[in-house]
Amino acid sequence: MKRFAKAVAHSNIALAKYWGKADALRNLTAVPSLSLTLAALRTTTSVLFDPALDSDQFSLSGEAVSGRPLARVVKLLDAVRAAAGVVDRARVESVNDFPTAAGLASSASGFAALAMAATRAAGLEPSLPAVSALARAASASAARSVYGGYVALDARAECAERVCAGSAFPLEMLVAVTVSGPKATASTDGMGHTQSTSPYYSAWLEAAPHVYGEVRRAVEARDFAALGPAVEHSALLMHASMLAARPALIYFAPATLRVMDRVRGFRQAGGRAFFTMDAGPHVKVLVEPSAARELELELAKLEGVSSVLRSAAGPDAYWVEP
Ligand code: PMV
Repeated sequence: MKRFAKAVAHSNIALAKYWGKADALRNLTAVPSLSLTLAALRTTTSVLFDPALDSDQFSLSGEAVSGRPLARVVKLLDAVRAAAGVVDRARVESVNDFPTAAGLASSASGFAALAMAATRAAGLEPSLPAVSALARAASASAARSVYGGYVALDARAECAERVCAGSAFPLEMLVAVTVSGPKATASTDGMGHTQSTSPYYSAWLEAAPHVYGEVRRAVEARDFAALGPAVEHSALLMHASMLAARPALIYFAPATLRVMDRVRGFRQAGGRAFFTMDAGPHVKVLVEPSAARELELELAKLEGVSSVLRSAAGPDAYWVEP
């Protein structure tokens, strides 16, 4: 019997970052993190368990995928098969409505959508925490994409938890996509390298939970003036630990610094906006909806910025009826 399900999950950007694993085998994070799920960055994934297939197949935007990305998908499918008592192999088709090559956290929405679709296709009726735990085992940031709005993932936690809906604290995110060179180091490799070579990693482990606390309290208090500086601090602390690795992990491109400088200039002129960045050269800017358009136009004019995506907070992941 063929079994099919389809699901949608949105990407998320951490306001309080995690970097490093407490348990690499179980993929548990070393520090707590808190993110905003983005409406404009979305993955749709369908899973078909089919007795006629000899092996799992995975396509991303119509292109067959093999190697390490396929192995990560197979691992998640194996966990679902074990839980559901299913033996059939699956055909997984995934589509991002944003540029995957730009490295915009596609693994977060990708593994969240896959966990949603695979569990439903296998006949399980999973809760969101159960889907979040499954997604987290594949990619820790994916645990957070199961929920909309503001979402926390505690250190060593199995699954993420909702902090509040996006509508409770309406902020927007601008994603300044920078022209970049070859693909940067994958996050899992970069974390391992930082943990084993950076003398600043221990300082990061000590500081990150405090910054997370600041970010969380600011979100709970809907206090943008307190949130913004903590968000910038979290990202720069994380990048300081990477810069001090040997060899250094440098995700900054010239345009990355130009965007950060423009955001600071925007603040000096009385505006309110704060940047963050992940394991790639793009800059994400947290801004109030009333100022988003003006800043979007300013960032789009900068040399080395190829496009600016604008997004409000996104919803929980959901199943789509075939
Ligand atoms: O869980 P991963 O492999 O997607 O790594 C995410 C790492 C950062 O994006 C840099 C930080 C974060 O908390 O999302």
